[in-house]
Amino acid sequence: MNVKKVVEMVGEDRGFTNFESEELLYKTIENEKLRNLIDTLSSTLKLQSNVIQKLISGRDLQASTAKVLGLLKKRLKLDEIAVLLYEEEKGGLTVFAAAGLTPRKKKAVFHPGEGISGRAFLFKKTLFTERAGSDPRFMNWLQNTSEYRNKSFIAIPLISGDTVLGVLTATADTLPTIYLNILQVFASTLSPLLHLLKTKLQQEQQYYNMIQKLIDVSEALNPVFRGHSHRVNRYSLYLADKLKMSEEKKKIIHHGSRLHDVGKLAMMDIVKKHGKLTKREYEILKLHPVLGEQFVRDFDFLVPAIPMIKFHHERYDGTGYPGMYMGEEIPLNARIVSVADVYDAITGSRHYRKPLSFEKAVKELSNSSGSQLDPYLVEVFLSDLNELKDFTEELKQKRFPY
Ligand SMILES: [Fe+2]
Ligand SMILES: [Fe+2]
Repeated sequence: MNVKKVVEMVGEDRGFTNFESEELLYKTIENEKLRNLIDTLSSTLKLQSNVIQKLISGRDLQASTAKVLGLLKKRLKLDEIAVLLYEEEKGGLTVFAAAGLTPRKKKAVFHPGEGISGRAFLFKKTLFTERAGSDPRFMNWLQNTSEYRNKSFIAIPLISGDTVLGVLTATADTLPTIYLNILQVFASTLSPLLHLLKTKLQQEQQYYNMIQKLIDVSEALNPVFRGHSHRVNRYSLYLADKLKMSEEKKKIIHHGSRLHDVGKLAMMDIVKKHGKLTKREYEILKLHPVLGEQFVRDFDFLVPAIPMIKFHHERYDGTGYPGMYMGEEIPLNARIVSVADVYDAITGSRHYRKPLSFEKAVKELSNSSGSQLDPYLVEVFLSDLNELKDFTEELKQKRFPY
C-alpha cells in the first residue's frame, strides 16, 4: 500500500484533510524512528550493564570473559569474537577467551604487526574493514581468506593506562555503528580488569619465586636436605611423564612438588638440626603438611598444589598423617609426590646412614609398595630401571642452588 493511499484512509477515518493526515503520518513515522532508536539504546544499555555485571561479579575473569563473549556473539549476531592477550613467553597474542572459534584457531599466535589484530595491537589503534577477505592487512587464522571475503572485521586494542594488553576482535556479516560502539565499551570495561589480573599474576609469580628461594636456603642449612625439593620435583615429573599426564596437570605437580615441604619454613630450628630429633621435635615436624597450606592458600594459582602439600605424608595403608587417609582417598598428586619424596630420602644420605646403592634403594621402595606407597605408582616409577638409574645419577651429580 502506498503512502498516498494510507494518507487518504487515515484522513477519511478521522475526518482530517489530506494535508493534515499527511503531516500526522510523517510525525508518526518520525516518532517510530525515535521509538526504535530509544528501544535500541535501552537494549544496548541493558546489554552493556549485563556485560559489566557479568565481568565484575565473576571470580575467574577468564571464565566470565568467555561468558560475555558468548552473550555478545549471540546478541550482535557475530561469527567469531575473541580476546587476544600478549604473552611475553610466546612473543605474541594468544587467545584468552573466545566464542565461535574452532579449537585450532584458539591455538593461533599473532605477532605484533601481523594481520589486522597484530597491527591494532602494535599501533594501539582500532582497525575496521568491511571486506576482510580482500583487505591486504588481513591475515586469516587458517590462511583461508575466502570464508572472510564479505565479512566485516574489527580489532580493538585493549589499553589500560599506557599499557596495551591485547586485542578484542570480532567478525560478522555486518557490524553497524551501534554494534561497534558496544564492542568499544566492552573493550574499555575489560581492559582495566585484565590489567589487574596481569598485575595479580605477576605478584603471585614473584611470591612463588621468593618462597622457592626461601625453601632452597632453608634446605641448604642441612646437608641432608640440600636440593631435596628440586629432586622431589624432578622425580614427581618423571613419574607424571610415565603416567602420560597432560601438560596442565604436570604444571600443578610441578608447583606442588617444589613446595611440598614449604611448611618446614615455620620450624627452621628443627630443619637445620643435625642429628636425631627428639620425640617432641618430631611431633612438631609432623605439623609441616598442615602449616604448609597456610603459605599458599591465598594465591589462586597455587591452590591446586595444596593436596600435595597437605597429604604427601599420608600412607597408602591409612597410617599416615595428618588425615590418616587410605588408598585412593589420598589425592593422586599427593601419592605421586610421596613416591618421589620417599625415593629421594632412600637415595640420599641421613645422619645415621650413608646413601643406599641404587639396587638397594629399588628394593626398599618396592618394600614400601602397598604399605606406605601406592603399589601401581611404585610399579610405574620402577618400570624402566636403566632409565631411572641414569636419572638418579644425573640428579645426584647436579648442584642445586645454594
Ligand atoms: Fe614432608
Ligand atoms: Fe620432602
